[in-house]
Amino acid sequence: MPDDRRTLETREPADETVEPPESFVEQANVSEESVLECFEEGRQGWERAAELLDWRDGYDAVFDEDSNAWLPGGSLNVSENCLDRHVDDGRGDARALVWEGQAGETRTYSYDELLREVNATAASLRSLGVEENDIVTLYMPMVPELPVAMLACARIGAPHVVVFTGYSAEALAERMRESGSSVLFTCDGYYRGGDAISLRNRAETVRVSVPWEVTTVIVDRFGSVDAGTGASDYAYDSLVEEHAGASVEPVERDSNDELFYIYTSGTTGEPKRVTHTTGGYLSHAAWTSHAVLDIKPDDTYWCSADIGWITGHTYVVYGPLALGTTVLLDEGASDFTSRSKPWKTIEEYGVDIFYTSPSAIRKFMKWGEEYPAAHDLSSLRLLGTVGEPINPRAWRWFYEHVGDEDCPVVDTWWQTETGGHLITTLPGVHDMKPGAAGFPLPGVDAEVVDAEGGRVEPGTGGYLTITKPWLGMPRELSTRERWAEHGDDEPPDLSEFEHAYFTEDSAFVDEDGYVTVIGRVDDVIKVSGHRFGTMEIESAIADVEGVAEAAVVDGRRDGQRVMDAYVSPSDGSLREDEVRGAVLKAVEEKIGSFARPDRVVFTSELPKTTSGKTVRRLLTEIASDEEPGDTSVLRNPEIVGEIRSSLRDE
Ligand code: PRX
Repeated sequence: MPDDRRTLETREPADETVEPPESFVEQANVSEESVLECFEEGRQGWERAAELLDWRDGYDAVFDEDSNAWLPGGSLNVSENCLDRHVDDGRGDARALVWEGQAGETRTYSYDELLREVNATAASLRSLGVEENDIVTLYMPMVPELPVAMLACARIGAPHVVVFTGYSAEALAERMRESGSSVLFTCDGYYRGGDAISLRNRAETVRVSVPWEVTTVIVDRFGSVDAGTGASDYAYDSLVEEHAGASVEPVERDSNDELFYIYTSGTTGEPKRVTHTTGGYLSHAAWTSHAVLDIKPDDTYWCSADIGWITGHTYVVYGPLALGTTVLLDEGASDFTSRSKPWKTIEEYGVDIFYTSPSAIRKFMKWGEEYPAAHDLSSLRLLGTVGEPINPRAWRWFYEHVGDEDCPVVDTWWQTETGGHLITTLPGVHDMKPGAAGFPLPGVDAEVVDAEGGRVEPGTGGYLTITKPWLGMPRELSTRERWAEHGDDEPPDLSEFEHAYFTEDSAFVDEDGYVTVIGRVDDVIKVSGHRFGTMEIESAIADVEGVAEAAVVDGRRDGQRVMDAYVSPSDGSLREDEVRGAVLKAVEEKIGSFARPDRVVFTSELPKTTSGKTVRRLLTEIASDEEPGDTSVLRNPEIVGEIRSSLRDE
C-alpha cells in the first residue's frame, strides 16, 4: 500500500444497539418477513423495487448477465411515474411540493399543479429545439422551478445535468463543455445563508467560455429578469406562460437510457461524470425511499440536501415523488443559519421524516438542545443521516433531542456513483448501532477486504467493496470490462471477484455484521458534506503566481471536518497575505467559494519521501492538531516541526 494512502485504522465500534420503537415497527413499509423472503432468490428480489413503478413495456428479465444490464427490454417515463400516475389515481389534489423561500415566501404545488407546470416547461423546452437525448444544464438553486425542469427534461427524454449553484462560472462552463450541452436554465440569483447572490454574470461568462451558442432560460428570483438581455435569453415565466395548458406526451424511454449526468469529484482533478439510467436508477430510488426512509403518500417529507448533489436528486426529487408523497423544499436548509428555523419548520409543516447530514446535526448540537426542545416535534416518525460518518455522540443527540427516542435513525451509506442507499439499517427490521451505518441492503453484496482482496477479520479495517451489480449502478459500470478495469488498477486486488466495484472507502465489519464506514482512502475529501478531489483544488492553487506547490488535506478540529491548504511559495520575497488572497480567489474562481480552504498554511517545502512523494498523512495529522506520527520516510523531516511552529506562532 502506498505510504500516503489514508488511514485504514479501525474507529471505536459502537458497543450498544438501539431497538426501533414498537410503534414504528408495526407500521413500517418493510418488515422482516416481507423483505428477507423476497431477496432469498438473489437478484430476482430487486423485482420488488421495479414493481413500485409503472412500466410501459415490461422488462424481459430483472438482470441480464450477458449485457450486465438491469431490467432489459423495459420501458417507462420517469415524469409519468412521478406525476401522471398519482393524478390518474385520484391524488391530483394531494400536495406534491411545499416550498419555503429564504425571504419568507411559500408556494405549494398539488400533483395536478406540478404536472401542469412540468407540461408547460416540457413544451417550452421543445419550443427551444430541445429533442430527445439533448443535454440540458440546470444551474439553479432550491426553487420549485428546479424539480419542475428536471421532470420536464425527463418527460421529453432529455438528460439533465444539475450543477450546484455554489460552483463558479468556470466550473459550470467546464461541465457544459464536457457534456456537450447548449441549453442552460438558471436564475437571476438566489439566497444563501441570508445573502442575496447574483447568478447573472455567471451565465454571461458561460457564453464566452463554451464554444457554441448557449440558449439561456432565466427564472426570476429577484424580480430582475427583464425578458432577457441577449438574443438567446428567455425569461422562464413568459416562456412557460406561453405554453400554459400544453400537454406533452411522456416519451417512452428504455430502462437503460440516460436519465441524467451528475458531476462529482474524483482524484484526477477533472470533474467526474456519473450517468444514471432511467429504469434501474428510478427503481432503486423508489425502493430505498420506501424501504429505508419509510416514505408513505400521506407523509410530509423533508430532506435538507441541495438538489445540486446526488442526495437531492434521489431523495428530494425522484424517490419521494415516485412514491407520491409531499416534499418540503427549503431554500435555506442546506446551510442552516437560524437556530430555531429547522424545528419551527418541522412543527409548522408536521414533518414526518427528516433526513439531513452529520455536519448539520453537529451544528444543531453545538447550538443546544433548548432549540429543538422549544418546538413540538411529535410529528416526526423517522430520522436519517447521509454524506459522512456520524459519531455516536451526534447520533445519540439526534435520536434523543430531535427524535425523542421515539424515531429510528437510519445512517445511510452510499455515493454519487451508487445512485441510492447501499448500506444502512432497515428501520422496521434492524436494531441500530450508533456510529455504524448498518448492513448491506437485501440484494447488495459488500465485502471489506485487504490489499490482496481477501476478506478481513471482524473489527479490522479494510477496503469497502461492492461485489455484485446493484440496481441503481451507473452506466459507467455497465460493462464487465469496466468492472475488471477498476479492480485491476487500484488497490485492493479484486481480480478474484467476478464483479467488484471499489468504493474508495475504508470500513470494518463488527462481530454482529454491522458495517462502520471510516472514510475515503483516495484523495477525495468530504468537508461539510461536500465532496472535493484534492487535485482539483491543488491545481487551482498551483496556477497562482508565487506558488511552487500545494497540498490540500482534510482534518478534524473541534469535532468538524476542515480543509487546509499547505502552500510552498516559489518566491520567498512575496508577501504571504497577498499570496493567501490570490490562493483563495483562485479557488473561488475555478471551483466556487464553497471550496475555499479553512486555512492556508505556508511552508518552505512540503513533507516529501526520498522519491519525491508528498506525505499527506502527516499534513492530515497537523490539520487535526495531532502529534505527527512516523517521519522516518521523509527526506526533509525538519519540515514537520517548522510547519507546526509556524502554526503556533499564528
Ligand atoms: O466516504 C463516503 C461518504 O461520502 C462518500 C460519497 O460522497 P458523495 O458521492 O458526495 O455522496 C454523498 C451522498 C451519498 C462516500 O464514499 N459517506 C456517504 N454516506 C456516508 C458516508 N460515510 C459514512 N457514513 C455514511 N452514511
